[in-house]
Amino acid sequence: MEKLSVAQARQEASIGKQACLQGWVRTRRDSKAGFSFIEINDGSSQGNIQIIADANLENYESEIKNLTAGCSISAIGELKASGGKGQSTELHASQVTVHGWADPDTYPLQKKRHSFEKLREWAHLRPRTNTFGAVARVRNCICNSIHQFFQEDGFLYVHTPVITASDCEGAGEMFQVTTMDLEHVAKNTIERLDYQFDFFDRPSFLTVSGQLEAETYACALGKVYTFGPTFRAENSNTSRHLAEFWMIEPEMAFCELSENMDLAEAFLKRVFGDAMEKCAEDMEFFNLRIDTTLLETLNGIMSSDFVRLPYTEAVEILEQCGESFEYPVQWGVDLQSEHERFLTETHFKSPVILYDYPKIIKPFYMYCNDDEKTVRGMDVLVPKIGEIIGGSQREHRLDVLEQRMTEQDLVIDDYWWYTDLRKYGTVPHAGFGLGLERLVQFVTGMANIRDVIPFPRTPGNADF
Ligand code: 4AD
Ligand code: MG
Repeated sequence: MEKLSVAQARQEASIGKQACLQGWVRTRRDSKAGFSFIEINDGSSQGNIQIIADANLENYESEIKNLTAGCSISAIGELKASGGKGQSTELHASQVTVHGWADPDTYPLQKKRHSFEKLREWAHLRPRTNTFGAVARVRNCICNSIHQFFQEDGFLYVHTPVITASDCEGAGEMFQVTTMDLEHVAKNTIERLDYQFDFFDRPSFLTVSGQLEAETYACALGKVYTFGPTFRAENSNTSRHLAEFWMIEPEMAFCELSENMDLAEAFLKRVFGDAMEKCAEDMEFFNLRIDTTLLETLNGIMSSDFVRLPYTEAVEILEQCGESFEYPVQWGVDLQSEHERFLTETHFKSPVILYDYPKIIKPFYMYCNDDEKTVRGMDVLVPKIGEIIGGSQREHRLDVLEQRMTEQDLVIDDYWWYTDLRKYGTVPHAGFGLGLERLVQFVTGMANIRDVIPFPRTPGNADF
């Protein structure tokens, strides 16, 4: 017996086939004419398939008539054309096997619709809902598209470490990794921790970015990218921050800032296009239920150029726009999300790439411009999210880099391997980091980042 997914079984080409379908019951209705309609979903598509179970099936009274939402079943039968609305096929069952029951008194996902906040408490069950199934499929499609985009363009996938001793962004937002018994340490009130007793013989952390290590591979292999988990202990409870998120970081040797911007723009457009093409049904769902401007926005972005604007000009726009912001703007401040959103949503109504930021607000590794005030950093801003990508051309001149490290109180010797790249065959190079969850948020229109990753990690929350 051929096993078909619900997605396959729903295609007209499957009509006439004998098949076995397996999934979780969404609804059951009984007809007076002596049969039941059971809708199941197996996660392979947004749509369910209807199974028609006749009253003469041997377990009809004992089992089939007791099926409720959440029960798991296998059904064998013939796929036929369906007269029902919104479906082209249905399965006429000759056998229905129940694998697992779901007590309707306690199963949380009964018909009633729950808020996304409530569903976060059932992160283990929420993938069975329409919205979270769709998010999972689109997230998967995006990941596939990301790998394809880079692989087709000759980038090499490199794995950078999750545990590291260096703070790439210099923001001090790292989770420490230790095998020391912290309770013992606390009880014995040791004056100073002796790291020779720790696993790595020195303070070690979960990485905030694979960039520095990716640079070493780019400076040997040309074009590389990383795609892995990153961690930030920033205590910001916003709809756009997670303590654990996935980042994609391309890094290119012999590359300057404008080429880096070209790559970021082509990359985002490719991902948007693939999501709309390969997940059409799910994207329609998001457009209908989550954000009715979604498809229009994505299509608009695909067919226009991103605005590219120096930070200094952006600040002028913000100072003169007459909008009252919570955080005042002046040259030299780090832009807040409200400023970024004003630029991209209200002023330009388009994605915006801001570049040439004041060096005082950016990390040590960014290339210093001749004005000695700005660095070749870039942020890609999109409506509703604000910053989705952060990147830069890297400082490849040893003397300038060391000066910047000193200015930022970094111990140059700790980064000896990083400065070595500037001693031996240094080249202009550039790259960026894209937060996967912000991208999934943007593509699906989901308002909260906690709803686009299976098990969100946020301050005070590491359940499941
Ligand atoms: O701008 P960021 O901090 O840049 C870097 O880490 C560079 N080392 C990247 C590089 O040049 N290779 O972070 C990059 C992106 C942000 O634009 C944002 O999309 C995402 O990572 N991001 C977060 N996403 C979710 N939760 C957080 N707490 C995030 N912090 C950054
Ligand atoms: Mg950033």
